Amino acid sequence: MSEALSSALPRGRFVTFEGGEGAGKSTQIKLLADRLDEAGIRAIVTREPGGSPGAEIIRHVVLSGMGKLLGAEAETLLSAAARDDHVHAVIKPALEQGIWVLCDRFSDSTRAYQGSQGKVAPEFLNALERVTIGGLKPDLTVILDLPVEVGMARASLRRGTGVPDRFEAEGGAFHQGLRDAFRQIARDEPQRCALLDATLAPKAVADNVWSVVHERLLAEAAHP
Ligand code: TMP
Repeated sequence: MSEALSSALPRGRFVTFEGGEGAGKSTQIKLLADRLDEAGIRAIVTREPGGSPGAEIIRHVVLSGMGKLLGAEAETLLSAAARDDHVHAVIKPALEQGIWVLCDRFSDSTRAYQGSQGKVAPEFLNALERVTIGGLKPDLTVILDLPVEVGMARASLRRGTGVPDRFEAEGGAFHQGLRDAFRQIARDEPQRCALLDATLAPKAVADNVWSVVHERLLAEAAHP
């Protein structure tokens, strides 16, 4: 696209979904993408770690447990390398073309999984964020919240006879710590984050997601 044309377009909105295992992020992202489509808004759905060909290879390494063997900081570096590729190859180009980006996990997951639970220092995380995402903050982060035992039961049902991945295999204390970390992020940044009850039926959660998107991103666009 020519520079003149792309600079005339309003930037797309960047919406991230966060939460513990079994919170229903993938379902909710899909339902939001469908509603945006019905409203005539172009959106892509992507995920982290992954979302670009290079980052999907790193996802495989991280979820296989290889990153854990190397230590929490090395695992963080792997996630950062994946994010760098994803941001530059997929997220920024889409936003610049006016396309909305709906991303399943982003930097809050690094804060919760590697920071809060892996005990990686905030300065280390800040330095990597400066390199990988710079000033790119989500316009809205939907945090799907539910009790750990409900999320773990859902994740186990979804997995069937499959083997738990590196994070699903962690114990209850790890997952409770994650839930607390995400709730803290929502308290710290209420302007950016919306904490939603993920124990409700998928349709009810989707209605709540749509209300937040409408109120915070669409109504604001109609009356800037
Ligand atoms: P999921 O998106 O299917 O839940 O799987 C991704 C897993 O990777 C999930 O357990 C969270 C974890 N993760 C991190 O540990 N750090 C990160 O920065 C990201 C984006 C995900």
